[in-house]
Amino acid sequence: MKSWILCGALLTFGMNVLAETTIIPIETDNTALVYAVGDNGRLYQNYFGKRLSGKADYAALPQGKEAYLTHGMEDYFEPALHINHPDGNPSTLLKYQSHTVKAVDGGTETVITLADPEYADRVDLHIVAYPKENVYKEWAEIFNNEKKDIELEKFASSLLHFRAPKYYLTQYNGDWASEVHPHDQELHYGKKEIDTKLGARANMFVSPFFQLSLGKPATENEGDVLVGTLGWTGNFRFTFEVDNRGGLRVISGINPYGSAYTLGKGESFLTPEFIFTLSDRGKGKASRDLHDWARNYSLKDGLSDRMTLLNNWEATYFDFDQDKLVSLIGEAKELGVDMFLLDDGWFGNKYPRHSDTQALGDWDVTADKLPDGIGRLTEEAKKQGVKFGLWIEPEMVSPKSELYEKHKDWVITLPNRDEYYFRNQLVLDLSNPKVQDYVFGIVDDLMTKYPDIAFFKWDCNSPITNIYSTYEKMNQSHLYIDYVRGLYNVLDRVKAKYPALPMMLCAGGGGRTDYEGLKYFTEFWCSDNTDPIERLFIQWGYSQVFPAKAQCAHVTTWNRDASVKFRVNVAMMGKMGFDINLHDLNEGELAYCKQSIKDYNSLKPVIFNGDQYRLVSPHDGNHAATMYVGKDKKKAVLFAFDVHPRYDEALYNVKFDGLDPSLTYNVREINKSDGSQGEEKSYSGSYLMTVGLPLFSTSKLSSRVYEVNSI
Ligand code: DGJ
Repeated sequence: MKSWILCGALLTFGMNVLAETTIIPIETDNTALVYAVGDNGRLYQNYFGKRLSGKADYAALPQGKEAYLTHGMEDYFEPALHINHPDGNPSTLLKYQSHTVKAVDGGTETVITLADPEYADRVDLHIVAYPKENVYKEWAEIFNNEKKDIELEKFASSLLHFRAPKYYLTQYNGDWASEVHPHDQELHYGKKEIDTKLGARANMFVSPFFQLSLGKPATENEGDVLVGTLGWTGNFRFTFEVDNRGGLRVISGINPYGSAYTLGKGESFLTPEFIFTLSDRGKGKASRDLHDWARNYSLKDGLSDRMTLLNNWEATYFDFDQDKLVSLIGEAKELGVDMFLLDDGWFGNKYPRHSDTQALGDWDVTADKLPDGIGRLTEEAKKQGVKFGLWIEPEMVSPKSELYEKHKDWVITLPNRDEYYFRNQLVLDLSNPKVQDYVFGIVDDLMTKYPDIAFFKWDCNSPITNIYSTYEKMNQSHLYIDYVRGLYNVLDRVKAKYPALPMMLCAGGGGRTDYEGLKYFTEFWCSDNTDPIERLFIQWGYSQVFPAKAQCAHVTTWNRDASVKFRVNVAMMGKMGFDINLHDLNEGELAYCKQSIKDYNSLKPVIFNGDQYRLVSPHDGNHAATMYVGKDKKKAVLFAFDVHPRYDEALYNVKFDGLDPSLTYNVREINKSDGSQGEEKSYSGSYLMTVGLPLFSTSKLSSRVYEVNSI
């Protein structure tokens, strides 16, 4: 990482005048993002691409586009920043003041300070570069240095400029139980926005990430592609705008929709982090770089192990009592998983939680269901040698609850209109510090009473609708943002007091999947859809940005056409768990599950911490294959699936990836349904990656797992 002031000679009226050009290159091992200060004192993005060879190259770059464009000046397109000043002037002009560079964990943070000479407002652009992982994160801090309040109408985290003959955008959208499906489009003149306005369960329809191919559509291993994601557990917006000259700007940040923010004198506004990587070797490399970055610097306990589990949700739904749970804890032990996770339905007394119609907010244990409390369950778990995890949905309230009766003022709902319920519930007003205390108190009380709770599944099933806060009163447009900030306050407190407590982020499936949330959560629930065929697609989608160890993948009874082996093998590609009634399994299936947990435990280090190669996409045909390769390239595991093969279709070899071509590897099928293992054969890494092996079959819904070990 370098930063310097470059001196150049400028000819003015026949005289040599020494002019100073400030150039700020921000480099990773493969890329460089280069800013420079123009003669007019404004900041320009001169370059973002493959790392150049040095000072002279950066100095030779022509002036690019203004970096963090503002509303109201000469630009004709979407700005990053729009401030309404106290005198009614809506324009902002930013000039370079200074910049600093300092080392941070894993990289370097550059802070470029810009200020408006007329209004004294200041913007600090923070850009952290992680050289080894080729990842950047960028955010802005906007300071009100005026004498009165200012109003922020737009407040992006980042604005990046690109110039390529063509642009292709891949977005990931869907719905409940149908998350994260890729959709491609070419961008032409004008604006394309990807955004959400759902507030709490913010990603229910669209994921907060995208891929942008430059020049031509990138494939797994080829092409220039930007992959970007916003770390914000709320409304986000990505704006892609192609201008009249074919330039593209990408603006990322909190969705300013309904969120004009008043900033008092002397206050500052911190935007969330936009995290991005630019790959010149396709989407696969971009994913692997993001996975590495996440494990090393961002995901909670990114380098640690994860627990396998048995969850009772699909096995019992709300229909359980103490005896049933005690026996399920025994089943977790029998299965060989690390933890039993008790899901929804254990709380509420005045309004017991026998269905999703009531009790959210009343976090006292239902006495007639669980007469001896959670303590009896943690005790049983201890006896059985498994950990105990608990489901909570602490941000929500049922209208039929004691909390609602006591504290209607804590609920987000319009005072003078009919209430609207999503899944029969409402969202608590986390902008209110008292509500933050209450939500923190839910976790804290449970942990104090039952210190053996070893895991929480933190659910969030409702978006914010009918938005109104009794607490915010005159600042209603702050609520979407202050809600998320309130949530982070709570999560900060939880993390500070219980730093070693792993938690799953869940929002009615994958309704919350962002890297700021994942600073507090070790993993997330990808989808309520656990049909293994659908999961092949859903896990493929999330793997673009998130490592396998963060993706909870459970074996359930969805799609009984698929064998237990097929379902288990799909789950093994993520953080495996079971959400199944063991009595639904025959003897052979149960034995297979037990064996698979043992196999998984030995493969986990590679699946969790290795490099993921998406070899054959389920989107491309009737088969799919994914591979994980240990960092030392000595061990790998490959999963191959036949989904809906056609009659007598031609089958092609699966070409391995990520191996050392000069090493020899033993390859054998493991985890076969009858407990046996395949014959071991040796090949060079080069052969496996160039010729590949015939790993697909024409048997419908069949799957195979291959272990690859260097000799
Ligand atoms: C939605 C989650 O996605 C499910 O896994 C389950 O926990 C239910 N909520 C419980 O209400």
